[in-house]
Amino acid sequence: MSNALKYILLFVASSSIILNLLLCIKLFSSDVGNNQNKDQSWSRSAAQEAELAASMDCSGHGRAYLDGIIIDGKPVCECNLCYSGPDCSNFSPDCPADANDGDPYYLEEFWKKHAASSAVMVSGWHRMSYSYSFSDQYCQISEELEKHIRKVHEVVGNAITDGKYIICGAGATQLLNAAVHALSSNNPSIFPTRVVATAPYYKVYQTQTEYFESNRYRFEGEASACMNGSDTTTNIIEFVTSPSNPEGQFKRPVLSGPNVKTIYDRAYYWPNFTPIPGPADEDLSIFTISKLTGHAGSRFGWALVKDKEVYERMTEYLNENTVGISKDTQLRMLKILKVVLEDGSKEMFGFAHRIMKNRWERLRDVLAHSDRFSLQQTPAQYCTFTHGVREPTPAYAWLKCEKEEDENCSDVLRSANIIGRKGDLFNADNHYVRLSLIRTEDDFDNLINRLHKMVNTKPRVLDKEKDHARPSASVAIERQSIRFGDVYHAYRSEVISQ
Ligand SMILES: Cc1ncc(COP(=O)(O)O)c(C=O)c1O
Repeated sequence: MSNALKYILLFVASSSIILNLLLCIKLFSSDVGNNQNKDQSWSRSAAQEAELAASMDCSGHGRAYLDGIIIDGKPVCECNLCYSGPDCSNFSPDCPADANDGDPYYLEEFWKKHAASSAVMVSGWHRMSYSYSFSDQYCQISEELEKHIRKVHEVVGNAITDGKYIICGAGATQLLNAAVHALSSNNPSIFPTRVVATAPYYKVYQTQTEYFESNRYRFEGEASACMNGSDTTTNIIEFVTSPSNPEGQFKRPVLSGPNVKTIYDRAYYWPNFTPIPGPADEDLSIFTISKLTGHAGSRFGWALVKDKEVYERMTEYLNENTVGISKDTQLRMLKILKVVLEDGSKEMFGFAHRIMKNRWERLRDVLAHSDRFSLQQTPAQYCTFTHGVREPTPAYAWLKCEKEEDENCSDVLRSANIIGRKGDLFNADNHYVRLSLIRTEDDFDNLINRLHKMVNTKPRVLDKEKDHARPSASVAIERQSIRFGDVYHAYRSEVISQ
């Protein structure tokens, strides 16, 4: 055989091998692709439904939800307060500015911007068991979620989690009572444990402790009443909210001693609201996703607990009460925390801080020339998260009516069509009102516009007979809010109708 013929045969043979190889690769990869498409078949229609709801045009004053009302096959817009119509474009100019509750809608835009990374797809057979583990029926928190909670604290530097147990609950609300249960005395001869706080305090400490009425513990109001007492045998539980609700100040316990236990409520200890001077390292601290990422609707909170026995008693409470926390919620929380942790957590906290800073600047501007109203002072501090000195940007303004005769500041605001939460709902003087700054941008704009009008015009004097003939919207709101905490707002239709 000539050399030329040999080369031709070699060329034909090797070309055929290469061609066959390419064909196999193509066939294999398209098979994988087909399988992927097949695997995605169950999620495709769910994704389409979710995309349809997210794409509804609600004019920037509302949003449509997957589980909202459907008309003509499309989810209906749910409008912000004071807006109505199929696309939420009708504004009601006489609608009151609602600054009452702490519904944290202010981060909604962030989550819309991160729609893809924060979305969760849940199969019909996702985590059907009560437990995470076949072998341990009390395993109630997902290992991955627990890891991510520890990571967020480490990155933010707001709490030490090493050597601490983590227990999760249906919001901080459930954990508050679980903690009271766990820290109250087991010994009937020294019942009841006294539960106290320092005003102004978050009223749920009182309403919840009283509501769950137990012979083990009793709410006794002011912590200072227990100071210098000769009784060192009765157990005392002190609630300390730091930063506090309503003032946004760092608080310390006023009581100490072998018979005193402290529950630190750290709901607002995030860069959204405050500089982070250093990590909390307490026996029992409670956190919530509600104020961290704004997902109050998911009802998820967690406690960091040092002592094993306290952890076990809290776990016992949760098992008796709800047999743990929804696995669906935990899956969503994991996804949300992953987004929080992206980019060294700079993006979400940067966004939250910018919004809060802007709102505080606008509020201070509008009240700058008023001698009738003042705001709480919150000093700037070094923040270990941002590596710089910064001012706090609390979730609430604690507004004071400075005039002696304005002894019901909430009524003064009500006359200007502003609904705040009055001082005595924090066990404080009614010269004070709490204004929520974490609601929607529409609520905040409405608040600023009405405050602006009020400080620039003489406010209408309340006609006591007329305005008190039936419970005002603000009274209705306050009643409901006391009972259910900051998140309850089913009364809104009543507010709008007035
Ligand atoms: C100080 C404080 N603790 C706890 C809670 C309850 O949080 P969650 O929504 O997690 O139940 C709130 C809610 O407003 C709060 O202000």
